[in-house]
Amino acid sequence: MRTQVGIVGAGPAGLTLARLLENAGIETVVLEARSRDYCEARIRAGVLEQGTVDLLRDAGVGARMDVEGIVHHGISLQFDGERHRVPLSELTDGRSIVIYGQTEVVKDLFAARLESGLPLHFDTPAAEIDAERGIVRHAGGELECDFVAGCDGFHGVSRASVPSGVLREFGREYPYGWLGILADVAPSVDELVYAHHERGFALLSLRSPTRSRYYLQCRPDEDLGEWPHERIWQELQTRAGVDGWTLEEGPILEEGVTGMRSYVCEPMRCGRLFLAGDAAHIVPPTGAKGLNLAIHDVRLLAEALVRRYESGDEALLAAYSDACLRRVWRCEHFSWWMTTMLHLPPGGDPFDLRLQRSQLRYVTTSESQARALAENYVGLELV
Ligand code: FAD
Ligand code: DHB
Repeated sequence: MRTQVGIVGAGPAGLTLARLLENAGIETVVLEARSRDYCEARIRAGVLEQGTVDLLRDAGVGARMDVEGIVHHGISLQFDGERHRVPLSELTDGRSIVIYGQTEVVKDLFAARLESGLPLHFDTPAAEIDAERGIVRHAGGELECDFVAGCDGFHGVSRASVPSGVLREFGREYPYGWLGILADVAPSVDELVYAHHERGFALLSLRSPTRSRYYLQCRPDEDLGEWPHERIWQELQTRAGVDGWTLEEGPILEEGVTGMRSYVCEPMRCGRLFLAGDAAHIVPPTGAKGLNLAIHDVRLLAEALVRRYESGDEALLAAYSDACLRRVWRCEHFSWWMTTMLHLPPGGDPFDLRLQRSQLRYVTTSESQARALAENYVGLELV
C-alpha cells in the first residue's frame, strides 16, 4: 500500500488531520489499533475551545456539535465553601467554550470519513515506523508514505519508533488521579465548577441537559472497588457543597480513574514522521487542554502539508515543531498551574493549603489575574 500521508491513530488528532487533508485533496490512509465500537465508547475530554469549534465547523464536521454542543460563557472556582464566577467571555472579548464530549467529536469524524469512503482501518495497530523512509509496518503489511503523522496517543508506537538520542523529553508525574463518573441525571450546575476542598479537588461538569460528568481527586492508583456509588456521591456532596445548593444524584453509567502527568518531547518531528497530540505531549486534565492542543497541532500540520503539496515548499513543515511547541508549553504551564492551585497536596500540608487559598482569592478578585486565567482557558492565540 502507498499513500501521500499515512496517519497512525484515529483519535481526535488523527481523524481531524485526515479530514483537513481530505478537504485539500491530499491522499491519506488512517490506521487505528482498536475497533470502532471501542473508540466510540471511550469517555474523555468535554471542553472545546472556540478555536477547536471553529476548525471542526469549517472542516464540515460541526453540524451535530452546533446543535447539541452547549455554549458556556464562564466557569466557577470554589474555595472556602463559596463559588466565584470567572466570566470568561467578558474577559476575553466575547470568546466562549463549548461543552461537547470528545466521544461525540470522534463519532462525527468517523461518520464523515466513512461517508467519504476513504481508507480507515480499524483493528490495525501499527507495529513500527521507519521515520527516515516513511514506512509504517503493521500485521497486514507495510504502508509506504511521503509523510507519516504519528497521532497514536501517549502509549502509541510513533514516538517509540524514533531512534534514541533524537528526542529530548520533559515531564512530571503528579501524586493525584481523577475518579470520573458519567451519571444519568440532569447537571446540578449551569457552568463548570472547579472546587478546592481540604478533602481534595472536585470538578462538576456535564455532557448534556440530562447527563452529568463529575470528578473527584483520588490517588493515581485508586482502586474503584473501594468506591461504591454511595461513597462517590457522598464525597461529591461534601467537596462540592455550598449553602443553598443541592447536588442531584442519579444512576452512574460509567466510572474510571485517570492518572496525571505532564510530558513534552522535542522536537515533534523525526525525518518524515511528524508527532501530533498526545503522542508528543500530555497535560494534566485540570486546564481542559489535552484535546484542544491535539487539534491545534494538526491544524498546523495540515497547513504545512498543504503548502508542501501545493508548491513543494517545505518551510512550514520545517517550522512545524517549533510552532506547535510554543502553544504546547503555554498549555503545559497553565495546566500545571491549575493543577497545583486546586489539588490537595499529599498530606494536606497546611502551608500549601493557605498558599492555594490565597492564590484562588487573588485570581477571583483581581481582574488582571482573572483575565489571565480566562485567556488561557478559552485558548486565545497568546504566543
Ligand atoms: P488519542 O485520543 O489517545 O488517540 C490515539 C489513537 O491512536 C487511539 O484511538 C488509539 O487507539 C490509537 N493507537 C494507539 N496505538 C496505536 C497503534 N500502534 N497503531 C494505530 N493506532 C494506535 N483531556 C481533557 O482535556 N479532559 C479530560 O477530561 C480528559 N480525560 C482523559 C481521560 C483519559 C483516560 C485519557 C487517556 C485522556 C484524557 N484527556 C482529557 C486527554 C485527551 O482525551 C487527549 O489529550 C486527547 O484524546 C488527545 O487526542 P489524540 O488524538 O492525540 O490521542
Ligand atoms: C472536563 C474535563 C476536564 O479535564 C476539565 O478540565 C473540564 C471538564 C469534562 O470531562 O467535562
